[in-house]
Amino acid sequence: MMDSFAGTLSVLQVMTTLFIFLVGLGILAVIVMYVIDKTQTSHAVRRNFPVIGRFRYLFEEMGEFFRQYFFALDREEMPFNRAQRSWVYRAAKGVDNTVAFGSTLNLTPCGTPIFVNCPYPTLDEDAAPVSAVTVGPYAREPYQARSIVNVSAMSYGAISKPAVLALSNGSRMAGNWMNTGEGGLSPWHLEGGADIVFQIGTAKYGVRNENGGIDDDKLRAVAAHDTVKMLELKLSQGAKPGKGGILPGGKVTEEIANIRHIPVGEDSISPNRHPEIDSAADLLDMINHLQEVSGLPVGFKAVIGAYGWLDELFEEVIERGIENAPDFITIDSGDGGTGAAPMSLIDNVGLPLKESLPLVVDKLNAYGLRDRIKVIASGKLINPADAAWALCVGADFINTARGFMFALGCIQALQCNKNTCPTGITTHDKKLQRGLVAADKAERVRRYVETMSREIGVIAHSCGVPEPRRLRRFHCRIVQEDGRSIPLNELYPDVEPQRFLSQVR
Ligand SMILES: Cc1cc2nc3c(=O)[nH]c(=O)nc-3n(C[C@H](O)[C@H](O)[C@H](O)COP(=O)(O)O)c2cc1C
Ligand code: SF4
Repeated sequence: MMDSFAGTLSVLQVMTTLFIFLVGLGILAVIVMYVIDKTQTSHAVRRNFPVIGRFRYLFEEMGEFFRQYFFALDREEMPFNRAQRSWVYRAAKGVDNTVAFGSTLNLTPCGTPIFVNCPYPTLDEDAAPVSAVTVGPYAREPYQARSIVNVSAMSYGAISKPAVLALSNGSRMAGNWMNTGEGGLSPWHLEGGADIVFQIGTAKYGVRNENGGIDDDKLRAVAAHDTVKMLELKLSQGAKPGKGGILPGGKVTEEIANIRHIPVGEDSISPNRHPEIDSAADLLDMINHLQEVSGLPVGFKAVIGAYGWLDELFEEVIERGIENAPDFITIDSGDGGTGAAPMSLIDNVGLPLKESLPLVVDKLNAYGLRDRIKVIASGKLINPADAAWALCVGADFINTARGFMFALGCIQALQCNKNTCPTGITTHDKKLQRGLVAADKAERVRRYVETMSREIGVIAHSCGVPEPRRLRRFHCRIVQEDGRSIPLNELYPDVEPQRFLSQVR
């Protein structure tokens, strides 16, 4: 009895001593921080409010987390609100995607699309499968593309190996294409077996010669892969028009160097423009060269700002003959995503898709080139209604990058540029990549594409057409400033082929 009492007493004594020691240590730490804060010269808040001022930085960092999980309403966050993200999560998981009670979407803001349902919707038994579209009818190997929803450009490097594997496997299962982004064709793109659109950026990674131009033999080797179906020349992307990139030497590992065809360990600089393309004629020369060497359909990707150059390009196409036209144009929205870019370019340069898509489609119509040159639209088209709007305006396909990132589990932590992505998508830290199990996420990619396609179809059927490619501008109205909506075909009246049609061979 006495022994156990003595034992309890000594445990208490040890704990008391430990407590006093820890409190002492805490006080000492506060004193040290106080002295450091008071004497340092670079942070005004800490100098004026020693120790307490430090909490500001902690709260600033934690604020993002608290806003996302506790304070932000369903339709509030940027770039994507919780309702948009949750739809993708549920679609990708294959769980029930219906909502109860009523819409939380405010239908009054200017620009909101409203589809015009038909009194006699398409009966389920009359619904037609989505029709395939032939891209590059004059190519030696035209591409029959069926899926409306496809994976937008994201390089291996910007995204991790398991992310590329999940996207390529999921895309094969769903039957959509996957764009490599400008970082070259990696073994992981090929391993999944999906249809591949090979992107050629300003540094021509993967097909570059020693002067930074196109190496035709390397291009032929890329095009020889069965799964490589099209080439996309990247002029610009929405998040950073007119900006090249630097891949620091430290990140140019042997693997990356082999894929991109650049020297190991040396900084690799992407020019901010293709040095050899400075006019409509140069652009078409390059496209025609790529078409000739590869035998594949070739198009280009751009965010639209100035647009007179499109007239020059289409006039040049008509002069050379429509077989020499680009096979597609990918129009990226000014508010597109990226791994990393300056805020001034991300925020304020390049037209948003809602302006540029009708503009480009109308120009193609005016020049009689709408059937010849297919249109791919990208920029925040991550939910079915966004994609249906793009089809109404005149797109043939939609690409999404961030939609697929959400399907892979992205939680919009906005750290893609820091190698600390908590979901393993944009990090090369092997420990964080462990969280992304490619086989599981490939299924999510498949389900996301399938659910998107199905629900775009549901909107089409409600509008009374048997399949989404039959959606037209009059099927969608856009809310104006006074709260009333106007049909898209009044906002952007359909343009008939005009001046140049007679010259088209
Ligand atoms: C992580 C990441 C990497 C990207 N890399 C490329 C690229 O290599 N080439 C390119 O043309 N666009 C790139 N983009 C832009 C996307 O392809 C797409 O055009 C843009 O994000 C708009 O689509 P979204 O709103 O569906 O994301 C990237 C985007 C992200 C988020
Ligand atoms: S979780 Fe965060 S860091 Fe990772 S991809 Fe998504 S936004 Fe980028």
